[in-house]
Amino acid sequence: MTRDPVLLAADVHKTYVLSKKPLSILRGASLHVLPGEHVAIVGKSGSGKSTLLHILGGLDRPDPGHETAVRILGSDLLRISEARRAKVRAHDVGFVFQSYHLLPEMDIVDNVVLPAMALGSADAASRARATALLEMAGLGERLHHHPRELSGGEQQRVAIARAMMNAPAVILADEPTGNLDAGTGAQILDMLFGIARNGATGQNPPALVIVTHSEDIARRCDRILRLADGALQP
Ligand SMILES: Nc1ncnc2c1ncn2[C@@H]1O[C@H](COP(=O)(O)OP(=O)(O)O)[C@@H](O)[C@H]1O
Ligand SMILES: [Mg+2]
Repeated sequence: MTRDPVLLAADVHKTYVLSKKPLSILRGASLHVLPGEHVAIVGKSGSGKSTLLHILGGLDRPDPGHETAVRILGSDLLRISEARRAKVRAHDVGFVFQSYHLLPEMDIVDNVVLPAMALGSADAASRARATALLEMAGLGERLHHHPRELSGGEQQRVAIARAMMNAPAVILADEPTGNLDAGTGAQILDMLFGIARNGATGQNPPALVIVTHSEDIARRCDRILRLADGALQP
């Protein structure tokens, strides 16, 4: 049985223009990720890893003028409307960033429910799911705390619960332990890989694309791709 990729990117180019000087960051990056697969992306600081991850998740657009495709479950993010792209992003992609990106004015349940709101389904069932995800993250006693009342590691666990809220097909994680000490980072990774292996609360296990500096983290993945000279190499 052949499996269609959950994520496919072909010939991605990205140029930034700084003081009128073009800075070519991505020059034909391509990858495909199968359902449930764990892929690490490594590369030097400034090589374009975050830029690529943003493009893969539809948060940023690649340069026009190439035969570029970015497909999530078959939807080409570059050939659908912004409204449709926002739906695909909310429904099929979970993001985990180095700096958590939680909303400070909301308690952590509301933070985790947020992706369901993006799909117009923030009902009692979504709150129950958010609560279950936070309990799974070991934060069942902290449901009505605000992000500032939590440690960095706890905030990242909230962010992972939020990424799982809509049971995405793929999680995109950008140096998720970059701001944490080694011990806390190891706990966060165990949580992330545990979810990626088993799924959360009855869903299929998502695929995981993780940008990392750590060889240890990369070795836990099925494949390691290196971003160098604007392209991904095995
Ligand atoms: N919005 C932007 N405008 C201009 N240059 C940018 C922008 N975002 C990133 N860059 C530059 O693009 C390069 C790649 O950045 P990034 O994707 O963050 O790399 P990495 O995540 O691998 O460290 C860096 O040189 C960075 O300074
Ligand atoms: Mg980065």
